Amino acid sequence: DAGHYDTGGYEHYLLKEISEQPETMTRTMSGRLDERFHVAHLGGLNMDARETRSFRRVKIIGCGSAYYSGQIGAQLIEELARIPADAEPASEFRYRNPVVDPNTLYVAISQSGETYDTLAAVQELKRKGGRVIGIVNAVGSAIAREVDGGIYLHAGPEVSVASTKAFTSTSVAFALLALHLGRVRDLSPADGRRIVEGLRRLPGQIEEILTQGDKIAELARKYAKHASMMFVGRVRGYPVAREGAQKLKEISYVHAEAYPASELKHGPLALIGPDMPTVAIVPDDELLDKNLTTLGEIRARGGQVLMVGHREPESKLADDVIVIPKNEIELDPILLTIPLQLLAYHAAVALDRDVDKPRNLAKSVTVE
Ligand code: AGP
Repeated sequence: DAGHYDTGGYEHYLLKEISEQPETMTRTMSGRLDERFHVAHLGGLNMDARETRSFRRVKIIGCGSAYYSGQIGAQLIEELARIPADAEPASEFRYRNPVVDPNTLYVAISQSGETYDTLAAVQELKRKGGRVIGIVNAVGSAIAREVDGGIYLHAGPEVSVASTKAFTSTSVAFALLALHLGRVRDLSPADGRRIVEGLRRLPGQIEEILTQGDKIAELARKYAKHASMMFVGRVRGYPVAREGAQKLKEISYVHAEAYPASELKHGPLALIGPDMPTVAIVPDDELLDKNLTTLGEIRARGGQVLMVGHREPESKLADDVIVIPKNEIELDPILLTIPLQLLAYHAAVALDRDVDKPRNLAKSVTVE
């Protein structure tokens, strides 16, 4: 129930929540960025400097989109703090009797703070002596109460079943955590500053992407005619592709699969043809050439390509391109997600779906 919160003139909560992201993300960063020493202040972690330096691994757990934002988080932590990190669905983690290691920092992610699988995983970790922090939106929720400390998103209530602003705020919270862990290890002041300044640029850049709403709506009407779509990305782009496919499935009921672009030729390329378009995440990073080669392979099989990236490719490698502003390569996944949220939203509207309350889904899954 939305309670005091209304759609504020938007047609759906989802569009409101997508449009709010410049502000929600600003709130996630508020009071936490230090311009002088290029560090992040995260008092809620309840962790002293010695403990902050002590972790040898980071293990991230969450469900659904929370898990995909955890994959973005794992990459941020590996890149900026150089600590091995990975993400796993909390629903799987809790059932496989994981080895709980005292030198690992466990991070549980949940918008609602009430997802049963994530809560049960946290309880299992704590039973076995694990150090668990939370990245949670709902203040005072079950997971927030169970963890040893954490980072609140301050993104405000998220009403639409499909997560959008919590996803991007979680990714920002991970950038803060990576900065925090990195600056007491190998991350240089110059790189710390680069990330702090990059974070500051994000809200304005999201505003810019939001101005492309009409163009993206048109693309959504074009592509939503297909029964199935492929989403691909490499390394930083892969969790973005997974989240884009998830959004499309949940609210438009168009079938979508996400694959690392590098894996296409190991199987799913067999599906590519005129009936199966591909959304390709192609940031301007060290993998650009590899990604462009993949686009050529898709088009050689008659597959249409909708590319999301930082510039138009030189030759005709994509049928359509959504160009977005560039940030630091580590932060680009946050911006690359926004057009995919809009694409899914407009596809759902074009197909006349129940955008805010898709069939078979609940906002928070509090049962097993
Ligand atoms: C997101 O669009 C989904 N509705 C779903 O995957 C969600 O992210 C997941 O159920 C986790 O919810 P939580 O963040 O409240 O724990």
